[in-house]
Amino acid sequence: MLKILAISQLFYLISCSSDIILEPIKTGANKVALIFIPGAELPPDRYNPLLKQTQLTSLDSLWIAIPSFPQDLPVEQLRPKVVDEMLTKLYRSGMPLNATIFLGGHSLGGITSQTLAISYQNKIFGQILIGSFLQRKYETASAIYPVSTLTLSGELDGLARVTRIIESVYFYSNYPHFTLIIPGMNHMNTASGQPSSHIIKNDIESEINETIAHEELSLRIVDYISMRLNNQTTTPMIEYNLNQTKLFSQPYLDALNLEGFYHFMPPCYNKTNGNCQIGSQWSAYGQKIMSGLNDTVQLNISDQFHIVYKIPEHFPRLDNNCSSTKSSNDCILYVHTVTQNVYDVGDQFDSGETHTSAEEMRVKMISRQVLLTAADGKAHNFNQTDAQSLCGLINQHSLDWALEYAGAKTKDRYQRIGKQMIIGDDIGPLNAGPLWIWTPLVRIFDRKKRIVQ
Ligand SMILES: *[C@@H]1O[C@H](CO)[C@@H](O)[C@H](O)[C@H]1NC(C)=O
Ligand SMILES: *[C@@H]1O[C@H](CO)[C@@H](O)[C@H](O)[C@H]1NC(C)=O
Ligand SMILES: *[C@@H]1O[C@H](CO)[C@@H](O)[C@H](O)[C@H]1NC(C)=O
Ligand SMILES: *[C@@H]1O[C@H](CO)[C@@H](O)[C@H](O)[C@H]1NC(C)=O
Ligand SMILES: *[C@@H]1O[C@H](CO)[C@@H](O)[C@H](O)[C@H]1NC(C)=O
Ligand SMILES: *[C@@H]1O[C@H](CO)[C@@H](O)[C@H](O)[C@H]1NC(C)=O
Ligand SMILES: *[C@@H]1O[C@H](CO)[C@@H](O)[C@H](O)[C@H]1NC(C)=O
Ligand SMILES: *[C@@H]1O[C@H](CO)[C@@H](O)[C@H](O)[C@H]1NC(C)=O
Ligand SMILES: *[C@@H]1O[C@H](CO)[C@@H](O)[C@H](O)[C@H]1NC(C)=O
Repeated sequence: MLKILAISQLFYLISCSSDIILEPIKTGANKVALIFIPGAELPPDRYNPLLKQTQLTSLDSLWIAIPSFPQDLPVEQLRPKVVDEMLTKLYRSGMPLNATIFLGGHSLGGITSQTLAISYQNKIFGQILIGSFLQRKYETASAIYPVSTLTLSGELDGLARVTRIIESVYFYSNYPHFTLIIPGMNHMNTASGQPSSHIIKNDIESEINETIAHEELSLRIVDYISMRLNNQTTTPMIEYNLNQTKLFSQPYLDALNLEGFYHFMPPCYNKTNGNCQIGSQWSAYGQKIMSGLNDTVQLNISDQFHIVYKIPEHFPRLDNNCSSTKSSNDCILYVHTVTQNVYDVGDQFDSGETHTSAEEMRVKMISRQVLLTAADGKAHNFNQTDAQSLCGLINQHSLDWALEYAGAKTKDRYQRIGKQMIIGDDIGPLNAGPLWIWTPLVRIFDRKKRIVQ
């Protein structure tokens, strides 16, 4: 019995020995606590510089608690009572019982924070996630996230990639949840000292230093806390930063909308109604390019999402031809295409570390040969009309679209230091039953170029 007690006490000592409490440096009217959970492989003291800056910026009596986790692995299972334990320490250090409690975390710590905030929702008045984001399971109307959350993330974060954060912008840009992107900031800018090997491997080079990053973060954290304390639903600073964030995000949101991004709304597939997307606008655009018809004949193209290999198989369809119209200018060809978006295998884990847009769109289209014949009534040779890298042509249009609509800074960075993408020739099979479904886009890397075939 004694032995067991001794061991459990020892465990307590080990697991909690390096919790950090930062007592307030100011005596403000508001008594506030922020419990901040570190990222993986980053011990609590790596967050002292950021959180001391937050104390400097704040006018409140701001207590900070940074818990430590075994092996610096900040998961709830390893310290399920972490919130209670930190509160005990805070009260012991003189924090009044009526202080307002905020919870937050960086990176994996932000994932842990958001489940803890649900368990303690009666105690936690707001949450701050940095280099992290509310998980997809809360995006559905049936699982609304219950604790007001401010998400802060860097434009150049290589772990919580900005493309995933923009999904958060789409869902969480209004009270009670906000998402703000900080220009030039990367993942490690939030913490201090030596990055973990995982961060070194994945992060993007930042364009601001740690001092600036900590100032930018602190301003937004303090502003959000005061918004909550004043029972407001926004502030001029949040509004301004939301505007900037939306301007930055708009091209990528537009691209996701063209794609028919499944995480904005699931595909209908077989369903005919409900909250689902019927098809992709980009596939319709691709079919227009495929046709080679310029504007001589109008095309009315509608796309439907289906799993392309599922039985009963869904095929593309052409409803009519131009033989009955007097001039081709009056002719409208009605075309139906079929699309299945395919996302990265890592997408299901929602870690933010992979690209979010479709990795590939499997689209069944009507051949150029068939459409040319429908337009002019003449025979065309498939080997001439279609065996000329038409897939590559469509892919080139998507790359061109991205370069046309990308923000100036983003495009400039891509051209200066990005891996330039070059569309290669089609590799086929071009017209051999379902084989194309299992022949994905191939990426050929050389040192400087990224060729997509
Ligand atoms: C919080 O408690 C202190 C006493 O510990 C009291 O003086 C103060 O007025 C209380 N503040 C609020 C906002 O209730
Ligand atoms: C960080 O960047 C700012 C602005 O460029 C600069 O004024 C400051 O000296 C830098 N701080 C450090 C520690 O490098
Ligand atoms: C905010 O609302 C709470 C609860 O309704 C109230 O106790 C508090 O005084 C309000 N604070 C301000 C600044 O209005
Ligand atoms: C944000 O944008 C809205 C709409 O474009 C505008 O009305 C508002 O003044 C802007 N706010 C700030 C603080 O820039
Ligand atoms: C669509 O419905 C058919 C039967 O009508 C079924 O066999 C097929 O699995 C369904 N496909 C999907 C994606 O649900
Ligand atoms: C479409 O335009 C291109 C370039 O002007 C031309 O080469 C091609 O023949 C046109 N196609 C049709 C079907 O008119
Ligand atoms: C395409 O045809 C459908 C069905 O006839 C019609 O509802 C739709 O308005 C047409 N779209 C365009 C852009 O003309
Ligand atoms: C065009 O459509 C008409 C009426 O459906 C049909 O009789 C004719 O064979 C079609 N022409 C071609 C070239 O497919
Ligand atoms: C098209 O190419 C295939 C394979 O090269 C060949 O078997 C077929 O005869 C060609 N068809 C025409 C109409 O040229």
